[in-house]
Amino acid sequence: MSETLYRLADPTCVAPLVQSWAAWWMTVAPIPASLHVHKSQLPLLKGYLQNPDFHARAAKDPALSGGTFVGVASERAGEVKALLQQMQEAQADRVRLAEALEEFQGWLVDEAKGQSLEPLYEKLPEPLRGMVELSYDYINRPFVRVMEGALYRGNHHKPQLQSLRLLPLASDASRPHLFTTPYLMEPGQIDWAIPFAEERISRLFETDLSPRPLGYLRDVLGPAVTRDEQLLPLLTDAPPAKYTPWEGPGPRVRYLGHACALVEWKGITLLVDPVISARPSEGGMPRLTFHELPPRIDYALITHSHPDHLAIDTLLRLRHRIGHLVVPRSNGFLVGDYSPKLLARSMGFQNVLELESYESVPLPDGELIAVPFLGEHGDVGHAKSSYVVRTGKQQLLFAADSMCVDDAVYRDMRQNLGPIQTVFMNTETEGAPHTWTLEALFPKKRDRKMEKNRRCRGSNANEGLRILELVGASRLYNYAMGLEPWLEHIIGPPSPPDAPRMKESDRLLTEARARGLTAERLMGPTDLLPGA
Ligand SMILES: [Fe+2]
Ligand SMILES: [Fe+2]
Repeated sequence: MSETLYRLADPTCVAPLVQSWAAWWMTVAPIPASLHVHKSQLPLLKGYLQNPDFHARAAKDPALSGGTFVGVASERAGEVKALLQQMQEAQADRVRLAEALEEFQGWLVDEAKGQSLEPLYEKLPEPLRGMVELSYDYINRPFVRVMEGALYRGNHHKPQLQSLRLLPLASDASRPHLFTTPYLMEPGQIDWAIPFAEERISRLFETDLSPRPLGYLRDVLGPAVTRDEQLLPLLTDAPPAKYTPWEGPGPRVRYLGHACALVEWKGITLLVDPVISARPSEGGMPRLTFHELPPRIDYALITHSHPDHLAIDTLLRLRHRIGHLVVPRSNGFLVGDYSPKLLARSMGFQNVLELESYESVPLPDGELIAVPFLGEHGDVGHAKSSYVVRTGKQQLLFAADSMCVDDAVYRDMRQNLGPIQTVFMNTETEGAPHTWTLEALFPKKRDRKMEKNRRCRGSNANEGLRILELVGASRLYNYAMGLEPWLEHIIGPPSPPDAPRMKESDRLLTEARARGLTAERLMGPTDLLPGA
């Protein structure tokens, strides 16, 4: 009798964690993680311990959605206290680095007025030595330039705190909120302590397409599993889906939800902003999950680092299937303008392409071109890129959350590349504050009134219409609207139809149709044939 072969069951979610917190760039990249642990995570846990009941209640209250409340029941406050102590011990050097950076930056601004910076190196606090260069811009504003590569080689990079949590996902809403709630151990979960860079991770995820005997999986997971009964409920012996390559004359775009789209063209596959979900055991919106994606993803494209676009759980699970990971280039002048390329390398990606605007990669009878992505970051210059995929004579623009702040950008795009027939873009009205997810990067004292109108906002209906007109589009797909419930742990519950943002989206669709375009708002998996 042949041995039973297993793969991870569809409801098994694998969450990469850093000391029990979800992994995203603000918990992995060394400087942002140091600032985040010092200024966000530790104060948040301390606040929770002062009033666990209040936090637990507020985290469940839909009226307070988006607030910073730890969603842990008060009976488990002891576990939160233990986690706080463990973090204070294991990340004490990160806290010292964050304090030193903040203090020194403030001092430097007062001290450096255009004179030589050379003598100031002596004043560098110990945690920053060897990690930074002092510099001026051309109008003598001083700043600290972090040498991020050096930090990944040093103690502030903490692969020893990384783990993969295997958990049975009951419902989308049951996943702890990415920014505010640590993953305490629950019955039925397995915590596999393993650095994200380890090649062994791929041995587990290869079973999505090539199931293996139980003994093999136990060998891979090592001491994280002590009994078969721990692992078996997380597995299935149902065979994986069989992928049939798309052979149509034009491209096929499988919209997979939110900003994630799979482009299939002449044997090549490109996956934009990969965010793929487990399929919860209690049901929920239908979705394609990992074993239903192609065995090979030639290019995975990242538009920007908001965690609804750069999702470490999805990237690690698909790592062995991704040929090249394409990321936007950072400038490295701001501590929050971390390098997505170095982050990807620290997660074991070997082939990372960092494309400048209008740099391109050839495809069979086509091209992948990085194009400008303006706005949406509240005037803070962090890495971002939109992409045009040319398939024969058709061009598709994946604009993600781009905002049309300057018509000339899109006028030039058309001039440089010719008409772009199909545009994928989101719609926003107000957007989140520009410090959304990033508060730890900013000093406490600043003019918040002045900052008020700086938002993380994509295009509104009028700005969207201008983009469509300027690039010569005939087809609009309004996407990245957060309508799929598997985004809830990142960006909160989907907007109701009468939310201002949804009305704005309706207006965009109506106006676009009145101008003769095909216009559709996407929600949940949909196959599109934009070349037809
Ligand atoms: Fe965004
Ligand atoms: Fe987004």
